[in-house]
Amino acid sequence: MLLLRKMLQALRVPIKRSGSLGRWVDLGGQAKVLLKSNEKVVKTLEDMPGPNFLSFVYDLFGRRGLSRLHELQLEGKAKYGPMWKASFGPILTVHVAEPALIEQVLRQEGQHPIRSDLSSWKDYRECRGHGYGLLTAEGEEWQSIRSLLGKHMLRPKEVEAYGDTLNSVVTDLLRKLQQQRRKNSLNVVRDIANEFYKFGLEGISSVLFESRIGCLEPSVPKETEEFIQSINTMFVMTLLTMAMPKWLHRIFKKPWHKFCQSWDYMFAFAKGHIDGRMAEVAEKVLRGEAVEGRYLTFYLSRQNLPMKAIYSNVTELMLAGVDTISSTMSWTLYELSRHPEIQDALYREIQKVLQGNPIPSANEVGRMPLMKAVVKEVLRLYPVIPGNARVIADRDIQVGEYIIPKKTLITLCHFATSRDPTVFSNPDSFQPQRWLSRDQSHHPYASIPFGFGKRSCIGRRIAELEVYLALARILTRFEVKPEVEGSVVKPMTRTLLVPEKEINLQFIDR
Ligand code: HEM
Repeated sequence: MLLLRKMLQALRVPIKRSGSLGRWVDLGGQAKVLLKSNEKVVKTLEDMPGPNFLSFVYDLFGRRGLSRLHELQLEGKAKYGPMWKASFGPILTVHVAEPALIEQVLRQEGQHPIRSDLSSWKDYRECRGHGYGLLTAEGEEWQSIRSLLGKHMLRPKEVEAYGDTLNSVVTDLLRKLQQQRRKNSLNVVRDIANEFYKFGLEGISSVLFESRIGCLEPSVPKETEEFIQSINTMFVMTLLTMAMPKWLHRIFKKPWHKFCQSWDYMFAFAKGHIDGRMAEVAEKVLRGEAVEGRYLTFYLSRQNLPMKAIYSNVTELMLAGVDTISSTMSWTLYELSRHPEIQDALYREIQKVLQGNPIPSANEVGRMPLMKAVVKEVLRLYPVIPGNARVIADRDIQVGEYIIPKKTLITLCHFATSRDPTVFSNPDSFQPQRWLSRDQSHHPYASIPFGFGKRSCIGRRIAELEVYLALARILTRFEVKPEVEGSVVKPMTRTLLVPEKEINLQFIDR
């Protein structure tokens, strides 16, 4: 046994005691050793498979890999198994693509989880002297803003109270869809994601400011279009700037420049709206009127937070509420248009619960199991965040048979797990009923579109309410069909997972 220990140590294979049975362990080539029943091998990053630097660079840039990062997860898992390492530009990252292993990572994330270094997002804030919002803050700073916002965004009763505001946004959305479909004889709304970006922005703004910013008006303010464009550009440039080592930014300046320009626009846009709303409140106070409100910016302004923190948090919440909602709405209608029988069943569920009531309440949409299953299934097939991440900063952790050194960026491959045929039968097909059947249970970490744990999506309840309210009314008013039968739209990665091309749908009167 002493000899065996020496051999393993020479090969730098750590031994850990466990309750497993005695077994032969392959040390590569012909070498094998027999471990006692209470000993097992723990491997290091050096033992982990993965593409070499050049082949990963070729995948990323030669094979349009940045927009196919979600597909690279599937390829990586097929080639290397459930864990592999790869260099994303200057960053070494460990990919984890099995639900049980993802669970192991998340269960070790600690008190103040770190999502990722998102170094370019942080660099921008440092460079401009902006504060951090909930998406980017860390440690105690993150914890205190999370507790504060959580009170108004996570408690079901608080969220239900946004129902009326969101319903008024849905009313405008329906009017907008009506206008758009009238533009042609087939009642087609072209590029529905574009309509839903504006819906998402109007929705999150109504929650933040309790006032409307005109995204769904017949003529959309130019600044709104530019804000949405800035988000798009920023997401594309996020991946590019992170994949480039910093010294390259000085040679190829354009990506970093465009990235900063987009953030500048977003910060300025949010600041304009916050300042405007605060000025209204100040005038009211001057006039001696009572000041109250049910909107998030108002709560934030009452906490003695520095203005810098309010600006950064509101900017990040606005950003978080646009593409996420647009993607979810677009893919849901896309899939329902291709599955008329499911659309029909959902229509019947909605009518049964609403009993002729034209405007659903938060409570009513909460009583629609098929609606929830449809959205769950959409987020399984098209997880808005196809690859999330964690960094465990203070200690090495063990995941599967590997020891991952502290501060390593761990990429959680949600796209790969949610399309894994060993977890979900027919993983590429849209089957909401899989979430309703007791016989089909899945590993709880196989599809976690809102993340998990302390750092999970704080907007989840608001997002679900917004999507359910909008779907209930769209499907009550229209039957949704593809513009061209059988046309297929694939997803692509732009940091988030979005439709690769326009989704055009017919909205037929019921
Ligand atoms: C269907 C829509 C949405 C999806 C699928 C989604 C998904 C996610 C995911 C996966 C995360 C990361 C969680 C983690 O790291 O464990 C996240 C974080 C976050 N989301 Fe969402 N999101 C959605 C809508 C929204 C909306 C509407 C808002 C704003 C109201 C929002 C605000 C945030 C914020 C602020 C964070 C960071 C939380 C933190 O770090 O503490 N999200 N979201």
